[in-house]
Amino acid sequence: MFNLVLFGPPGSGKGTQSENIIATYKLQHISTGDLLRSEVTNRTTLGLEAKKFMDQGMLVPDEVVIGMISSRIDESGDARGFVFDGFPRTEAQALALDKLLEFKGTSINLVLSLEVEEQQLIKRLINRGASSGRSDDNEEVVTKRIKEYHAKTKPVAGYYEHQGKLVTVNGEKSVEDTFKLLSAHIGQYIS
Ligand code: AP5
Ligand code: MG
Repeated sequence: MFNLVLFGPPGSGKGTQSENIIATYKLQHISTGDLLRSEVTNRTTLGLEAKKFMDQGMLVPDEVVIGMISSRIDESGDARGFVFDGFPRTEAQALALDKLLEFKGTSINLVLSLEVEEQQLIKRLINRGASSGRSDDNEEVVTKRIKEYHAKTKPVAGYYEHQGKLVTVNGEKSVEDTFKLLSAHIGQYIS
């Protein structure tokens, strides 16, 4: 298996690039943001609880997200590998993911971290807000999401750097050029 973590702040292009990556390399996409939004849409107990945090740009509690990921991995069948998008976002989540994958006899191979300057992130997300219908794509909540990223998520990069798995990639180029940069690294593992 080949397992990739696509890492980076809100608006860095994780979702956009995941689509290209899963189509090209035939991997399964696991986005905790998408899973949570689907729980919200279906008005499940988990969704109603998570919505309170998401609407404020705060992280949903670790135990909720880890439980959700665990079920998703169990449902995956014979996957060629996973692209984790927006997960792990805390060190506790990173540790839990390592354990879940170890149980499956596999591990994270590579962590690609998309780097985009803050003003550009804000611009992209507010732009997207015009059509996304996402309750967190407005200036006030975007600013909070970026703050939360610096406080709780950025340290996760250090966790993977320590494991020798972290590679940073410029995320400010066009969607196509960014995909080429990411592919150059993924191509060292699978074709
Ligand atoms: P989540 O859905 O994961 O949102 P996020 O990390 O805030 O990131 P986004 O999805 O907004 O950005 P992205 O990096 O995917 O960029 P995209 O490709 O869309 O999380 C939402 C909430 O759920 C969190 O706040 C939290 O409450 C909760 N949550 C989720 N996971 C959690 C977890 N693990 N633990 C706890 N809580 C969790 O691109 C953004 C825009 O830019 C798009 O319009 C796109 O078209 C555009 N764009 C992309 N690439 C380019 C480019 N190269 N040039 C120009 N524009 C571009
Ligand atoms: Mg996303």
